[in-house]
Amino acid sequence: MTDNVAPKEDALVDKFGRRVDYVRLSVTDRCDFRCVYCMSEDMQFLPKPQVLTLEELYQLAASFVSLGVRKIRLTGGEPLVRRDVLWLIRQIGQLGCELVITSNGSQLSKMAPALREAGVSRINISLDSLNPERFKRLTRTGRLEQVLGGIDAALDAGFERLKLNAVVLKGRNDDEVLDLVDFARDRGLDISFIEEMPLGAITEHDRAEAYCSSDEVRALIEQRYPLQPTTERTAGPSRYYRMADSDSRIGFISPHSHNFCADCNRVRVTVEGRLLLCLGNEHSVDLREVMRRHPGDSERLRQTIIDAMDLKPERHWFDLDDEPQIVRFMNMTGG
Ligand code: 5AD
Ligand code: SF4
Repeated sequence: MTDNVAPKEDALVDKFGRRVDYVRLSVTDRCDFRCVYCMSEDMQFLPKPQVLTLEELYQLAASFVSLGVRKIRLTGGEPLVRRDVLWLIRQIGQLGCELVITSNGSQLSKMAPALREAGVSRINISLDSLNPERFKRLTRTGRLEQVLGGIDAALDAGFERLKLNAVVLKGRNDDEVLDLVDFARDRGLDISFIEEMPLGAITEHDRAEAYCSSDEVRALIEQRYPLQPTTERTAGPSRYYRMADSDSRIGFISPHSHNFCADCNRVRVTVEGRLLLCLGNEHSVDLREVMRRHPGDSERLRQTIIDAMDLKPERHWFDLDDEPQIVRFMNMTGG
């Protein structure tokens, strides 16, 4: 297996000198929620043979770590609804990389302690509203209580630096920005506000109309809490701010208004095993094909990943007014 090989520190460097040491791995396209900006009401999910097995997902994770990847984020859909996902999480937890999860929080009430024991170090939890009816309207099938219970369970399990992710939509939850900040402050959580990204065509939802810029969100927060920019960066596109009287950090993820490509250190793998070199471009390499055609050939898999780095484009292009949009849904690309 690949996990005993000493990491090659800089095996994954692209044409622009960016070192790739962070992989986001989607473990399922399914989700128990149907957030309006992410899915249509009657989503078609992938047939099982197209989805990577848990063993294949592990093989990928081990290969990336052997190539110097230091951080793996499991995403979805909702990663925690995949059957036996704890097996995968425990296995990856042994690889020696940082292991983090992005979740909608629905399963945390029962799973938080096991995740902690398996070696998950941080969890990002999506939370767009603190109003039960509105939460229901935004997620279509989610229950706010369930997610708030999950956040408490994660805190009880000893997770630190939990982070909330809130997608802000004009006229839908932009009036809750300050309430969400206070919720985060009260519990010592970080919170990131995300601009909606144009991923997937969702007919019953007008993206240009709902778009709320990070600058607008920041202005709302500064009505109550002056924000001091920090130099802190996680390995991601967030810009972080602090408030004078709180440990909570406030992040802004702005794919539209700020270009964060220059120090991009990440790639994504879809649940079908497509290695995506950039969220906003279609460049990809089919790793599932390599694994299924050459089972057990970990050297070939590693070389395919190394070669793929040359395809990483310099930057992405998102534009609300420009057709056509990228046609992948977020639950396919893993956030
Ligand atoms: N634009 C921005 N954020 C999105 N998310 C899902 N779809 C979109 C989109 N189109 C968010 C989820 C979650 C995070 C993983 O991505 O709400 O917080
Ligand atoms: Fe599920 Fe997350 Fe998509 Fe909502 S945004 S439907 S929680 S994958």
